[in-house]
Amino acid sequence: MNIHPEFHRFLNRHDKQVLLRQRGIVVWLCGLSGSGKSTIANAAERVLYQQGRVTVILDGDNLRSGLNSNLGFSDEDRLENIRRIAETAKLFVSQGIITFVSAITPRGELRDLVRGLLGADLFEVYVEASYATCEKRDVKGLYAKAARGEIAHFTGKDGSFEPPQNPALVLNTETSSVQDAAFELLEAITDRISINPEL
Ligand code: ADX
Repeated sequence: MNIHPEFHRFLNRHDKQVLLRQRGIVVWLCGLSGSGKSTIANAAERVLYQQGRVTVILDGDNLRSGLNSNLGFSDEDRLENIRRIAETAKLFVSQGIITFVSAITPRGELRDLVRGLLGADLFEVYVEASYATCEKRDVKGLYAKAARGEIAHFTGKDGSFEPPQNPALVLNTETSSVQDAAFELLEAITDRISINPEL
């Protein structure tokens, strides 16, 4: 192959983490549309910002207007969508950045791909809310459209959603407020983002 990766010459993750005084992690929030993934990521990011942490949010909806704008919602396109998001998250975490991903990630196969790419850097969170609850919230009006048969492969309706088998954390947004869910998440990752004194 005529490709010669030169990672060895670049400043490495350790250097970046020392600069940022934090450790990188990928907090991958999966769950139905309208379950609260982006809202929780936003609330958690704001707290971290106050603490002087450097973060980024990779949001499925937003990325679909740029990097992933040529992809739809077939199984094949979702796989490519998730692969690109995971590779992007890998770039950020390799710079020591606390990376939130908010993407439905509806099937086990997709989450296996993510785990394969991110390994120990992955912190998988299932943002749980029933289809009925998300339909009631219907922030973007998509559930009403899906009910009228206007959206093909809609997740939870004619597109499958398999709840994750073994997530690091489950946040149920029917029983917790956004603030409580965000604090629970932050508590769960505190040790993982704190830099070791010996670094
Ligand atoms: S994923 O399944 O590939 O992980 P992603 O998180 O990027 O999905 O995008 C989901 C967003 O796309 C939803 O929040 C919603 O706003 C929009 N959307 C449009 N069509 C669909 C559909 N058929 N199923 C689910 N979400 C859809």
